[in-house]
Amino acid sequence: MAGIPHDHYEPKSGGEKWLHRRLPVVSLLYDTLMIPTPKNLNWMWIWGIILTFCLALQIATGIVLAMHYTPHVDQAFASVEHIMRNVNGGYMLRYLHMNGASLFFIAVYAHIFRGLYYGSYKEPREVTWIIGILIFVLMMGTAFMGYVLPWGQMSFWGATVITGLFGAIPFVGEAIQTWLLGGPAVDNATLNRFFSLHYLLPFLIAGLVIVHIWAFHTTGNNNPTGVEVRRGSKEEAAKDTVPFWPYYVIKDVFALAIILAVFFAIVGFMPNYLGHPDNYIEANPLVTPAHIVPEWYFLPFYAILRAFTGDVWVVIIANFLTGGIIDAKFFGVLAMFGAIAVMALAPWLDTSSVRSGRYRPMFKWWFWLLVADFFFLMWLGAMPAEEPYATFSLIGSAYWFFYFLVILPLLGVIEKPLPQPETIEAAVAADKAAANGGAGAAEATPAE
Ligand code: HEM
Repeated sequence: MAGIPHDHYEPKSGGEKWLHRRLPVVSLLYDTLMIPTPKNLNWMWIWGIILTFCLALQIATGIVLAMHYTPHVDQAFASVEHIMRNVNGGYMLRYLHMNGASLFFIAVYAHIFRGLYYGSYKEPREVTWIIGILIFVLMMGTAFMGYVLPWGQMSFWGATVITGLFGAIPFVGEAIQTWLLGGPAVDNATLNRFFSLHYLLPFLIAGLVIVHIWAFHTTGNNNPTGVEVRRGSKEEAAKDTVPFWPYYVIKDVFALAIILAVFFAIVGFMPNYLGHPDNYIEANPLVTPAHIVPEWYFLPFYAILRAFTGDVWVVIIANFLTGGIIDAKFFGVLAMFGAIAVMALAPWLDTSSVRSGRYRPMFKWWFWLLVADFFFLMWLGAMPAEEPYATFSLIGSAYWFFYFLVILPLLGVIEKPLPQPETIEAAVAADKAAANGGAGAAEATPAE
Protein backbone atom coordinates (compact mmCIF):
# COMPACT_ATOMS: atom_id res chain seq x y z
CA MET A 1 0.00 0.00 0.00
CA ALA A 2 1.30 3.43 -0.88
CA GLY A 3 1.69 5.74 2.10
CA ILE A 4 -0.35 8.90 2.56
CA PRO A 5 0.84 11.36 -0.15
CA HIS A 6 2.85 14.26 1.27
CA ASP A 7 5.95 16.39 0.68
CA HIS A 8 9.23 14.56 1.04
CA TYR A 9 12.63 15.81 2.10
CA GLU A 10 14.63 17.56 -0.60
CA PRO A 11 18.33 18.08 0.17
CA LYS A 12 19.25 21.73 -0.50
CA SER A 13 22.82 22.60 0.48
CA GLY A 14 25.87 20.91 -1.04
CA GLY A 15 26.57 19.10 2.24
CA GLU A 16 23.01 17.78 2.51
CA LYS A 17 23.12 16.52 -1.08
CA TRP A 18 26.46 14.83 -0.41
CA LEU A 19 25.12 12.97 2.62
CA HIS A 20 21.76 12.18 1.04
CA ARG A 21 23.46 10.38 -1.87
CA ARG A 22 25.45 8.24 0.56
CA LEU A 23 23.09 7.78 3.54
CA PRO A 24 19.57 9.26 3.37
CA VAL A 25 19.28 9.41 7.15
CA VAL A 26 18.03 13.02 7.27
CA SER A 27 15.34 12.06 4.79
CA LEU A 28 14.33 9.11 7.00
CA LEU A 29 14.11 11.34 10.08
CA TYR A 30 12.23 14.03 8.17
CA ASP A 31 9.69 11.58 6.78
CA THR A 32 9.22 9.99 10.19
CA LEU A 33 8.70 13.29 11.99
CA MET A 34 6.63 15.00 9.31
CA ILE A 35 4.41 11.99 8.63
CA PRO A 36 0.81 13.06 7.93
CA THR A 37 -1.22 12.01 10.97
CA PRO A 38 -5.03 12.08 11.20
CA LYS A 39 -5.93 15.41 12.72
CA ASN A 40 -8.59 13.99 15.04
CA LEU A 41 -6.48 11.69 17.27
CA ASN A 42 -7.75 11.87 20.85
CA TRP A 43 -5.99 11.30 24.20
CA MET A 44 -6.01 7.56 23.76
CA TRP A 45 -3.35 7.97 21.07
CA ILE A 46 -0.71 9.10 23.57
CA TRP A 47 0.10 5.62 24.87
CA GLY A 48 2.44 4.64 22.06
CA ILE A 49 4.77 7.49 22.98
CA ILE A 50 4.43 6.73 26.69
CA LEU A 51 5.40 3.14 25.87
CA THR A 52 8.43 4.28 23.89
CA PHE A 53 9.44 6.44 26.85
CA CYS A 54 9.00 3.51 29.27
CA LEU A 55 11.17 1.27 27.12
CA ALA A 56 13.93 3.90 27.04
CA LEU A 57 13.60 4.46 30.81
CA GLN A 58 13.79 0.73 31.58
CA ILE A 59 16.85 0.25 29.36
CA ALA A 60 18.66 3.31 30.75
CA THR A 61 17.98 2.57 34.44
CA GLY A 62 18.49 -1.18 33.89
CA ILE A 63 21.96 -0.73 32.41
CA VAL A 64 23.12 1.29 35.41
CA LEU A 65 21.50 -1.15 37.87
CA ALA A 66 23.36 -3.99 36.14
CA MET A 67 26.64 -2.26 36.92
CA HIS A 68 26.01 -2.79 40.63
CA TYR A 69 23.96 -5.97 40.69
CA THR A 70 25.41 -9.44 41.27
CA PRO A 71 23.56 -12.37 39.66
CA HIS A 72 24.46 -14.98 42.24
CA VAL A 73 22.11 -16.62 44.74
CA ASP A 74 24.43 -15.76 47.64
CA GLN A 75 24.80 -12.10 46.69
CA ALA A 76 21.81 -10.99 44.57
CA PHE A 77 19.59 -9.95 47.48
CA ALA A 78 22.44 -8.14 49.25
CA SER A 79 23.56 -6.45 46.03
CA VAL A 80 20.09 -4.95 45.60
CA GLU A 81 20.22 -3.69 49.19
CA HIS A 82 23.67 -2.30 48.40
CA ILE A 83 22.19 -0.42 45.42
CA MET A 84 19.46 0.97 47.68
CA ARG A 85 21.76 2.05 50.49
CA ASN A 86 25.25 2.73 49.14
CA VAL A 87 25.15 3.51 45.44
CA ASN A 88 24.70 7.24 44.72
CA GLY A 89 21.07 7.73 43.71
CA GLY A 90 20.75 3.95 43.78
CA TYR A 91 17.37 3.84 45.54
CA MET A 92 16.05 6.26 42.91
CA LEU A 93 17.39 4.12 40.08
CA ARG A 94 15.86 1.00 41.50
CA TYR A 95 12.49 2.57 42.28
CA LEU A 96 12.35 4.14 38.82
CA HIS A 97 13.01 0.74 37.26
CA MET A 98 10.59 -1.09 39.56
CA ASN A 99 7.72 1.36 39.09
CA GLY A 100 8.71 1.93 35.46
CA ALA A 101 7.63 -1.65 34.83
CA SER A 102 4.18 -0.84 36.25
CA LEU A 103 3.85 2.31 34.14
CA PHE A 104 4.90 0.24 31.11
CA PHE A 105 2.05 -2.21 31.73
CA ILE A 106 -0.54 0.49 32.50
CA ALA A 107 0.39 2.04 29.15
CA VAL A 108 0.36 -1.23 27.24
CA TYR A 109 -3.07 -2.22 28.55
CA ALA A 110 -4.49 1.23 27.72
CA HIS A 111 -2.87 0.95 24.27
CA ILE A 112 -4.31 -2.52 23.65
CA PHE A 113 -7.84 -1.63 24.80
CA ARG A 114 -7.68 1.55 22.69
CA GLY A 115 -6.88 -0.69 19.71
CA LEU A 116 -9.72 -3.04 20.58
CA TYR A 117 -12.26 -0.22 20.88
CA TYR A 118 -11.35 1.69 17.75
CA GLY A 119 -10.75 -1.46 15.69
CA SER A 120 -7.10 -0.54 15.08
CA TYR A 121 -6.34 -4.23 14.61
CA LYS A 122 -8.60 -4.46 11.55
CA GLU A 123 -7.46 -4.56 7.94
CA PRO A 124 -4.93 -3.20 6.91
CA ARG A 125 -3.23 -2.95 10.36
CA GLU A 126 -3.05 -6.67 11.15
CA VAL A 127 0.75 -6.74 11.03
CA THR A 128 1.02 -3.77 13.41
CA TRP A 129 -1.32 -5.65 15.74
CA ILE A 130 0.48 -9.00 15.58
CA ILE A 131 3.84 -7.33 16.20
CA GLY A 132 2.22 -5.54 19.14
CA ILE A 133 1.11 -8.88 20.59
CA LEU A 134 4.64 -10.25 20.15
CA ILE A 135 5.98 -7.20 21.99
CA PHE A 136 3.43 -7.77 24.75
CA VAL A 137 4.47 -11.41 25.19
CA LEU A 138 8.14 -10.40 25.31
CA MET A 139 7.28 -7.67 27.84
CA MET A 140 5.66 -10.29 30.06
CA GLY A 141 8.69 -12.57 29.79
CA THR A 142 11.07 -9.71 30.53
CA ALA A 143 9.07 -8.51 33.55
CA PHE A 144 8.75 -12.04 34.89
CA MET A 145 12.50 -12.66 34.71
CA GLY A 146 13.29 -9.22 36.11
CA TYR A 147 11.17 -9.91 39.17
CA VAL A 148 13.31 -12.96 39.96
CA LEU A 149 16.55 -10.94 40.09
CA PRO A 150 16.24 -9.34 43.58
CA TRP A 151 16.03 -12.92 44.88
CA GLY A 152 13.33 -12.24 47.45
CA GLN A 153 10.72 -14.76 48.58
CA MET A 154 8.24 -13.80 45.85
CA SER A 155 11.00 -13.83 43.24
CA PHE A 156 11.89 -17.39 44.14
CA TRP A 157 8.42 -18.81 44.63
CA GLY A 158 6.90 -16.95 41.69
CA ALA A 159 9.63 -18.40 39.48
CA THR A 160 9.05 -21.86 40.96
CA VAL A 161 5.30 -21.76 40.30
CA ILE A 162 5.49 -20.31 36.79
CA THR A 163 8.34 -22.46 35.51
CA GLY A 164 6.51 -25.40 37.08
CA LEU A 165 3.75 -24.79 34.53
CA PHE A 166 6.01 -25.94 31.76
CA GLY A 167 6.28 -29.22 33.56
CA ALA A 168 2.58 -29.69 32.79
CA ILE A 169 3.22 -30.02 29.05
CA PRO A 170 2.67 -33.69 28.19
CA PHE A 171 5.73 -35.90 27.50
CA VAL A 172 8.36 -33.15 27.06
CA GLY A 173 7.30 -30.87 29.94
CA GLU A 174 9.81 -32.00 32.50
CA ALA A 175 12.71 -31.83 30.04
CA ILE A 176 11.67 -28.29 29.03
CA GLN A 177 11.38 -27.21 32.65
CA THR A 178 14.85 -28.54 33.51
CA TRP A 179 16.26 -26.89 30.41
CA LEU A 180 14.67 -23.54 31.32
CA LEU A 181 15.87 -23.66 34.91
CA GLY A 182 19.31 -25.04 34.11
CA GLY A 183 18.73 -27.76 36.71
CA PRO A 184 16.00 -29.57 38.64
CA ALA A 185 14.93 -26.48 40.65
CA VAL A 186 15.16 -22.68 40.67
CA ASP A 187 18.77 -22.02 41.62
CA ASN A 188 21.93 -20.18 40.65
CA ALA A 189 21.84 -21.35 37.02
CA THR A 190 18.26 -20.04 36.77
CA LEU A 191 19.19 -16.67 38.22
CA ASN A 192 22.10 -16.36 35.80
CA ARG A 193 20.15 -17.13 32.66
CA PHE A 194 17.23 -14.95 33.76
CA PHE A 195 19.63 -12.06 34.27
CA SER A 196 21.18 -12.60 30.86
CA LEU A 197 17.78 -12.80 29.13
CA HIS A 198 16.34 -9.92 31.13
CA TYR A 199 19.16 -7.77 29.76
CA LEU A 200 18.73 -9.07 26.20
CA LEU A 201 14.96 -9.03 25.65
CA PRO A 202 14.39 -5.25 25.92
CA PHE A 203 16.66 -4.81 22.92
CA LEU A 204 14.64 -7.37 21.01
CA ILE A 205 11.53 -5.42 22.03
CA ALA A 206 13.19 -2.20 20.80
CA GLY A 207 13.81 -3.88 17.41
CA LEU A 208 10.17 -4.97 17.23
CA VAL A 209 9.01 -1.46 18.19
CA ILE A 210 10.86 -0.11 15.14
CA VAL A 211 9.08 -2.66 12.93
CA HIS A 212 5.77 -1.83 14.71
CA ILE A 213 6.22 1.86 13.90
CA TRP A 214 7.31 1.07 10.35
CA ALA A 215 4.13 -1.01 9.92
CA PHE A 216 1.69 1.69 11.05
CA HIS A 217 3.61 4.37 9.14
CA THR A 218 3.00 2.26 6.05
CA THR A 219 -0.75 1.97 6.59
CA GLY A 220 -1.14 5.34 8.27
CA ASN A 221 -2.59 5.68 11.79
CA ASN A 222 -6.09 4.66 12.61
CA ASN A 223 -8.19 7.40 14.29
CA PRO A 224 -11.31 7.63 16.49
CA THR A 225 -13.68 7.58 13.50
CA GLY A 226 -11.97 4.57 11.91
CA VAL A 227 -12.45 6.35 8.54
CA GLU A 228 -9.27 6.28 6.44
CA VAL A 229 -7.35 9.38 5.36
CA ARG A 230 -8.12 10.25 1.71
CA ARG A 231 -5.22 9.31 -0.53
CA GLY A 232 -6.42 10.64 -3.88
CA SER A 233 -4.05 13.61 -3.83
CA LYS A 234 -1.70 15.50 -1.53
CA GLU A 235 -4.27 18.28 -1.17
CA GLU A 236 -7.06 15.91 -0.13
CA ALA A 237 -4.80 14.06 2.34
CA ALA A 238 -3.72 17.40 3.83
CA LYS A 239 -7.36 18.17 4.73
CA ASP A 240 -7.58 15.04 6.88
CA THR A 241 -4.18 15.24 8.52
CA VAL A 242 -1.58 17.39 10.27
CA PRO A 243 2.16 16.67 10.30
CA PHE A 244 3.29 14.76 13.38
CA TRP A 245 5.82 17.51 14.12
CA PRO A 246 4.98 19.87 15.78
CA TYR A 247 1.32 19.10 16.50
CA TYR A 248 1.43 15.63 18.03
CA VAL A 249 4.90 16.04 19.49
CA ILE A 250 3.56 18.92 21.62
CA LYS A 251 0.46 17.00 22.59
CA ASP A 252 2.38 13.82 23.47
CA VAL A 253 5.02 15.70 25.47
CA PHE A 254 2.24 17.44 27.40
CA ALA A 255 0.61 14.10 28.20
CA LEU A 256 3.96 12.61 29.16
CA ALA A 257 4.62 15.53 31.54
CA ILE A 258 1.32 14.97 33.36
CA ILE A 259 1.84 11.23 33.59
CA LEU A 260 5.40 11.72 34.82
CA ALA A 261 4.20 14.08 37.56
CA VAL A 262 2.03 11.25 38.93
CA PHE A 263 4.77 8.68 38.28
CA PHE A 264 7.40 10.65 40.18
CA ALA A 265 5.01 11.23 43.07
CA ILE A 266 4.64 7.45 43.35
CA VAL A 267 8.38 6.79 42.89
CA GLY A 268 9.21 9.45 45.47
CA PHE A 269 6.54 8.96 48.11
CA MET A 270 5.13 5.43 47.82
CA PRO A 271 7.60 3.39 45.76
CA ASN A 272 6.64 0.06 47.31
CA TYR A 273 2.90 0.52 47.01
CA LEU A 274 2.58 -1.85 44.06
CA GLY A 275 5.15 -4.34 45.34
CA HIS A 276 4.82 -7.23 47.78
CA PRO A 277 6.46 -6.97 51.24
CA ASP A 278 7.57 -10.62 51.07
CA ASN A 279 10.07 -9.67 48.41
CA TYR A 280 12.06 -7.85 51.07
CA ILE A 281 12.70 -11.24 52.68
CA GLU A 282 15.60 -13.10 51.08
CA ALA A 283 14.63 -16.19 49.04
CA ASN A 284 14.40 -19.32 51.12
CA PRO A 285 13.66 -22.62 49.35
CA LEU A 286 12.61 -24.15 52.67
CA VAL A 287 9.86 -21.64 53.53
CA THR A 288 6.87 -21.22 51.23
CA PRO A 289 5.01 -17.86 51.58
CA ALA A 290 1.37 -18.08 52.67
CA HIS A 291 0.14 -16.63 49.36
CA ILE A 292 2.19 -16.62 46.20
CA VAL A 293 0.92 -13.63 44.23
CA PRO A 294 2.39 -12.33 40.97
CA GLU A 295 2.80 -8.65 40.14
CA TRP A 296 -0.48 -6.82 39.50
CA TYR A 297 -0.04 -6.79 35.72
CA PHE A 298 0.00 -10.59 35.54
CA LEU A 299 -3.09 -11.06 37.70
CA PRO A 300 -5.78 -11.27 34.97
CA PHE A 301 -3.85 -14.00 33.17
CA TYR A 302 -2.97 -15.70 36.45
CA ALA A 303 -6.71 -15.83 37.26
CA ILE A 304 -7.37 -17.52 33.90
CA LEU A 305 -4.55 -19.98 34.58
CA ARG A 306 -6.07 -21.02 37.90
CA ALA A 307 -9.70 -20.99 36.78
CA PHE A 308 -9.71 -24.40 35.11
CA THR A 309 -9.61 -26.92 37.94
CA GLY A 310 -10.19 -30.67 37.58
CA ASP A 311 -13.94 -30.43 38.30
CA VAL A 312 -14.74 -28.04 35.42
CA TRP A 313 -16.69 -29.84 32.69
CA VAL A 314 -14.56 -28.59 29.75
CA VAL A 315 -11.49 -29.90 31.56
CA ILE A 316 -13.20 -33.23 32.27
CA ILE A 317 -14.17 -33.56 28.59
CA ALA A 318 -10.69 -32.55 27.36
CA ASN A 319 -9.17 -35.02 29.81
CA PHE A 320 -11.44 -37.81 28.64
CA LEU A 321 -11.01 -37.12 24.91
CA THR A 322 -7.22 -37.00 25.11
CA GLY A 323 -6.92 -40.08 27.28
CA GLY A 324 -5.65 -38.06 30.26
CA ILE A 325 -2.97 -36.12 28.33
CA ILE A 326 -4.70 -32.80 29.00
CA ASP A 327 -5.08 -32.53 32.76
CA ALA A 328 -6.28 -29.49 34.74
CA LYS A 329 -2.81 -27.97 35.03
CA PHE A 330 -2.06 -28.25 31.33
CA PHE A 331 -5.53 -26.95 30.49
CA GLY A 332 -4.83 -23.89 32.65
CA VAL A 333 -1.59 -23.26 30.79
CA LEU A 334 -3.37 -23.62 27.43
CA ALA A 335 -6.12 -21.23 28.62
CA MET A 336 -3.61 -18.62 29.76
CA PHE A 337 -1.70 -18.61 26.47
CA GLY A 338 -4.99 -19.03 24.61
CA ALA A 339 -6.28 -15.81 26.19
CA ILE A 340 -3.45 -13.95 24.44
CA ALA A 341 -3.77 -15.99 21.25
CA VAL A 342 -7.46 -15.11 20.80
CA MET A 343 -6.52 -11.45 21.15
CA ALA A 344 -3.92 -11.92 18.39
CA LEU A 345 -6.65 -13.36 16.16
CA ALA A 346 -8.99 -10.38 16.66
CA PRO A 347 -8.37 -9.03 13.10
CA TRP A 348 -9.85 -12.21 11.67
CA LEU A 349 -12.49 -12.89 14.31
CA ASP A 350 -14.06 -9.44 14.02
CA THR A 351 -16.37 -9.63 11.00
CA SER A 352 -17.78 -6.10 11.15
CA SER A 353 -17.33 -3.84 8.14
CA VAL A 354 -17.19 -0.86 10.50
CA ARG A 355 -13.87 -0.20 12.21
CA SER A 356 -14.51 2.18 15.12
CA GLY A 357 -16.57 1.17 18.17
CA ARG A 358 -18.00 4.70 18.06
CA TYR A 359 -20.42 3.66 15.32
CA ARG A 360 -21.19 0.20 16.70
CA PRO A 361 -24.04 0.44 19.24
CA MET A 362 -24.08 -3.22 20.33
CA PHE A 363 -20.31 -3.70 20.24
CA LYS A 364 -19.85 -0.91 22.77
CA TRP A 365 -21.66 -2.78 25.49
CA TRP A 366 -19.72 -5.99 25.00
CA PHE A 367 -16.46 -4.06 24.80
CA TRP A 368 -17.00 -2.28 28.14
CA LEU A 369 -18.00 -5.59 29.65
CA LEU A 370 -14.63 -6.93 28.47
CA VAL A 371 -12.85 -4.04 30.18
CA ALA A 372 -14.80 -4.72 33.39
CA ASP A 373 -14.02 -8.42 33.02
CA PHE A 374 -10.32 -7.61 32.77
CA PHE A 375 -10.38 -5.73 36.09
CA PHE A 376 -12.57 -8.42 37.65
CA LEU A 377 -9.99 -11.05 36.65
CA MET A 378 -7.22 -8.82 37.99
CA TRP A 379 -8.94 -8.72 41.37
CA LEU A 380 -9.60 -12.47 41.29
CA GLY A 381 -5.95 -13.21 40.49
CA ALA A 382 -5.00 -11.75 43.88
CA MET A 383 -7.63 -13.76 45.79
CA PRO A 384 -6.96 -17.17 47.36
CA ALA A 385 -7.81 -20.21 45.22
CA GLU A 386 -11.09 -21.04 46.98
CA GLU A 387 -14.84 -20.42 46.62
CA PRO A 388 -16.46 -18.16 45.55
CA TYR A 389 -13.36 -16.83 43.72
CA ALA A 390 -12.84 -20.07 41.80
CA THR A 391 -16.31 -19.91 40.24
CA PHE A 392 -15.98 -16.18 39.58
CA SER A 393 -12.65 -16.81 37.84
CA LEU A 394 -14.27 -19.39 35.65
CA ILE A 395 -17.05 -16.98 34.67
CA GLY A 396 -14.54 -14.17 34.04
CA SER A 397 -12.30 -16.42 31.95
CA ALA A 398 -15.24 -17.77 29.98
CA TYR A 399 -16.33 -14.25 29.08
CA TRP A 400 -12.85 -13.36 27.84
CA PHE A 401 -13.00 -16.21 25.30
CA PHE A 402 -16.68 -15.65 24.58
CA TYR A 403 -15.97 -12.03 23.58
CA PHE A 404 -13.32 -12.92 21.04
CA LEU A 405 -14.63 -16.25 19.74
CA VAL A 406 -18.39 -15.59 19.70
CA ILE A 407 -19.24 -11.91 20.15
CA LEU A 408 -16.76 -10.45 17.65
CA PRO A 409 -17.70 -12.81 14.78
CA LEU A 410 -21.43 -12.61 15.55
CA LEU A 411 -21.81 -8.85 15.95
CA GLY A 412 -20.52 -8.22 12.44
CA VAL A 413 -23.56 -10.13 11.18
CA ILE A 414 -26.35 -9.00 13.51
CA GLU A 415 -25.39 -5.44 14.39
CA LYS A 416 -26.69 -2.42 12.50
CA PRO A 417 -23.95 0.21 12.62
CA LEU A 418 -24.60 3.93 12.89
CA PRO A 419 -23.74 6.15 9.90
CA GLN A 420 -20.05 7.04 9.72
CA PRO A 421 -18.70 10.42 8.60
CA GLU A 422 -17.61 10.62 4.96
CA THR A 423 -14.17 11.96 5.81
CA ILE A 424 -12.04 12.87 8.81
CA GLU A 425 -12.32 16.49 7.73
CA ALA A 426 -16.13 16.28 7.93
CA ALA A 427 -16.01 14.58 11.33
CA VAL A 428 -13.77 17.31 12.74
CA ALA A 429 -15.99 20.04 11.29
CA ALA A 430 -19.05 18.37 12.82
CA ASP A 431 -17.36 18.13 16.22
CA LYS A 432 -16.42 21.80 16.06
CA ALA A 433 -19.93 22.83 15.06
CA ALA A 434 -21.42 20.72 17.85
CA ALA A 435 -19.01 22.24 20.37
CA ASN A 436 -19.97 25.74 19.24
CA GLY A 437 -23.64 24.80 19.20
CA GLY A 438 -23.82 26.79 15.98
CA ALA A 439 -25.06 26.26 12.47
CA GLY A 440 -24.21 22.94 10.91
CA ALA A 441 -24.44 21.09 14.23
CA ALA A 442 -27.82 19.61 13.37
CA GLU A 443 -26.78 18.01 10.10
CA ALA A 444 -23.33 17.10 11.37
CA THR A 445 -22.51 13.48 12.01
CA PRO A 446 -22.82 12.75 15.70
CA ALA A 447 -19.64 11.76 17.49
CA GLU A 448 -19.16 10.81 21.12
C1 HEM B 1 6.78 -1.44 23.76
C2 HEM B 1 5.55 -1.52 23.39
C3 HEM B 1 4.88 -0.67 22.33
C4 HEM B 1 5.27 0.51 21.80
C5 HEM B 1 6.52 1.34 22.15
C6 HEM B 1 4.26 0.91 20.83
C7 HEM B 1 4.30 2.06 20.09
C8 HEM B 1 3.28 2.52 19.29
C9 HEM B 1 3.14 3.85 18.75
C10 HEM B 1 4.14 5.00 18.96
C11 HEM B 1 1.99 3.90 18.04
C12 HEM B 1 1.36 5.12 17.32
C13 HEM B 1 0.71 6.06 18.30
C14 HEM B 1 -0.33 5.42 19.17
O1 HEM B 1 -1.21 4.76 18.66
O2 HEM B 1 -0.25 5.58 20.40
C15 HEM B 1 1.40 2.58 18.07
C16 HEM B 1 0.26 2.20 17.39
C17 HEM B 1 -0.33 0.96 17.46
N1 HEM B 1 -0.01 -0.05 18.35
FE1 HEM B 1 1.63 -0.05 19.56
N2 HEM B 1 3.28 -0.06 20.79
C18 HEM B 1 3.62 -1.04 21.69
C19 HEM B 1 2.88 -2.17 21.98
C20 HEM B 1 1.70 -2.54 21.33
C21 HEM B 1 0.91 -3.68 21.66
C22 HEM B 1 1.20 -4.65 22.79
C23 HEM B 1 -0.15 -3.71 20.77
C24 HEM B 1 -1.29 -4.68 20.65
C25 HEM B 1 -1.31 -5.88 21.00
C26 HEM B 1 -0.03 -2.57 19.90
C27 HEM B 1 -0.89 -2.27 18.86
C28 HEM B 1 -0.87 -1.10 18.15
C29 HEM B 1 -1.76 -0.78 17.05
C30 HEM B 1 -2.84 -1.67 16.46
C31 HEM B 1 -1.42 0.50 16.62
C32 HEM B 1 -2.04 1.27 15.47
C33 HEM B 1 -2.98 2.27 15.99
C34 HEM B 1 -3.03 3.42 15.04
O3 HEM B 1 -2.70 3.25 13.88
O4 HEM B 1 -3.43 4.46 15.46
N3 HEM B 1 1.10 -1.88 20.27
N4 HEM B 1 2.19 1.77 18.86
